[in-house]
Amino acid sequence: MSEYALEVEGLVKEFHRRDQPPLRAVDGLSFRVRRGCIFGLLGPNGAGKTTTLKILTTLVRPTAGRAAVMGYDVLHQPLAVRRRIAVVLQETAVDLFLSVRDNLLSYVRFHGLDRYEARRRTARALEQFHLLDAAGSKVMDLSGGLRRRVQVAKVFLVDTPVVFLDEFSTGMDPILKREVMDRLRQEAARGRTIVLTTQILSEAEELCDDILILHRGRPVARGDLNTLKLLSKDVYELSLTFDALPAGLREELEQLAPVRLTIHNNSVEIALRAEESRVLELASALARRAQLLHLEVRGASLEDIFLELTRPTAGTVPEVPSV
Ligand SMILES: Nc1ncnc2c1ncn2[C@@H]1O[C@H](COP(=O)(O)OP(=O)(O)OP(=O)(O)O)[C@@H](O)[C@H]1O
Ligand SMILES: [Mg+2]
Repeated sequence: MSEYALEVEGLVKEFHRRDQPPLRAVDGLSFRVRRGCIFGLLGPNGAGKTTTLKILTTLVRPTAGRAAVMGYDVLHQPLAVRRRIAVVLQETAVDLFLSVRDNLLSYVRFHGLDRYEARRRTARALEQFHLLDAAGSKVMDLSGGLRRRVQVAKVFLVDTPVVFLDEFSTGMDPILKREVMDRLRQEAARGRTIVLTTQILSEAEELCDDILILHRGRPVARGDLNTLKLLSKDVYELSLTFDALPAGLREELEQLAPVRLTIHNNSVEIALRAEESRVLELASALARRAQLLHLEVRGASLEDIFLELTRPTAGTVPEVPSV
């Protein structure tokens, strides 16, 4: 059996539009993902993340190329694929007319477990996901956040080798989100492969062993966090808090064409592509301008890398490391 949970080769998806050329949502994507890792698909809105996930979960047919999950081809062996995956998509896919409890029960039964086991696992999931009060309600009567919780609970009900999560944390309160992140890590440690998309970079930074950044359906960078940070090793973040913000500072800093600049009250955060010595010079020049209450210089965060790689004015796209 394949050592890879996912194998994607030259994948293309075109959507046909009236009176316009077809839209290439996925444009020649190739990658492989090892079993047992947490793989993050990142990219701006419209990058092709959900489309890629839908192809991998057999919901959308690719225009060209091939994709396999646990060695099974998504086009030619869709049932074998579906038996091996649990999916949480951006649009909620729960049975709106069933109660929360019946949604969970029928999901476990679909995955071939007996009635006793289904009841046992459902009871545990209702408790773990704080859904006991909602257990008897029809899903259609729940808030968006609770519906999402029902969907995410399903992932932990069954032992499919691969889990797909499309922006799983949308609408989740921070405490539950933290619990889910911890549990995802445990699932990966048990050997399940987790494939997730997110816009929340700190989430990816914390969770993912392996990250692929997509832009307009194409890969722009791939690797673990450290590799990605190396890709933009000349990006530095500077955060400063002034006693009083010097006049005209925003305009001056904008002249430096920063990767990111946020000014809030007396605090400035700026990410720059420059040599370390230049960044330190800038820091000391700024420190001479006004009294500083706080100064910190650090290497690039995933957010800087992401902005740098996907901003419209980005120059040369770095080589995608071979995997
Ligand atoms: N069924 C469809 N018909 C036509 N175009 C589509 C369809 N589904 C997606 N697209 C287009 O394909 C592109 C990629 O969409 P996709 O949903 O995969 O992006 P995404 O990376 O998931 O974005 P987001 O971060 O907003 O969820 C977009 O331009 C979108 O408008
Ligand atoms: Mg999406």
